[in-house]
Amino acid sequence: MAAPVVDAEYLRQVDRARRALRALIASKGCAPIMLRLAWHDAGTYDVNTRTGGANGSIRYEEEYTHGSNAGLKIAIDLLEPIKAKHPKITYADLYQVIDNLVELALQNCEFYSYLLTTSYFQLAGVVAVEVTGGPTVEFIPGRRDSSVCPREGRLPDAKKGAPHLRDIFYRMGLTDKDIVALSGGHSLGKAHPERSGFDGAWTRDPLKFDNSYFLELLKGESEGLLKLPTDKALLDDPEFRRYVELYAKDEDAFFKDYAESHKKLSELGFTPR
Ligand code: HEM
Repeated sequence: MAAPVVDAEYLRQVDRARRALRALIASKGCAPIMLRLAWHDAGTYDVNTRTGGANGSIRYEEEYTHGSNAGLKIAIDLLEPIKAKHPKITYADLYQVIDNLVELALQNCEFYSYLLTTSYFQLAGVVAVEVTGGPTVEFIPGRRDSSVCPREGRLPDAKKGAPHLRDIFYRMGLTDKDIVALSGGHSLGKAHPERSGFDGAWTRDPLKFDNSYFLELLKGESEGLLKLPTDKALLDDPEFRRYVELYAKDEDAFFKDYAESHKKLSELGFTPR
């Protein structure tokens, strides 16, 4: 199915949502968990079966209770007030009209924007990077919501190494460069023992998006900072390490590649017009 046409009114709504997200993220200091939410919604994509992806399905209990999504309900709930500014339409109604989405969009923009919950998740991820000093990631709206949750186990396991990272990210249709650039998302936030079993931040300023993740990685173990087995795998594998070294010495190169990879991630399962 082709992506729906997004009209001028819808674009105005995206603009308003973007401003509301900036305010929310600034006031709650929740950029890291917003980025993680966007990534975990999108990162379930399977390029072969064309299932999963940036389709908002993580809003369902079936999916946000997956072990790897521990804690993300907090982010889903934080986004509710922004979503609630649009008319309440039942999901039951929504399923009835899914095939008529394009016509409905043209007839009723408010309804349409409610339908596209997913855009909020991905918009939140893009805004999280932007407001913490990272690159601007191009955002094209128009993703469709899905109620089909992928099976558990499609996201990476932090205890594994390079072959596992490749299995998972290649399944999404992403590349070695995407793996390393996107891992730089760990320049934000921290691990929580009660969520993942890991503890601590990757960088000294976890609310600033920059290339410090790569600088810290090359320094080796540093007092108080976290390195997951999957982070260390980026050093051990020569193809990955090439990018780690590049991004550590050239932040502009990191920002350019990150912006491209994040856009790809945010559009998994979605073909913009
Ligand atoms: C947090 C694993 C890739 C963004 C975490 C945590 C783990 C993890 C275990 C800690 C969760 C917690 O305890 O709260 C991994 C693995 C990856 C990966 C194995 C494979 C490469 C990514 C990517 C992004 C990302 C691609 C975004 C582009 C984040 C952020 C946090 C986080 C922002 C901090 C969340 C917070 O502070 O609440 N990740 N991650 N991660 N991850 Fe990843």
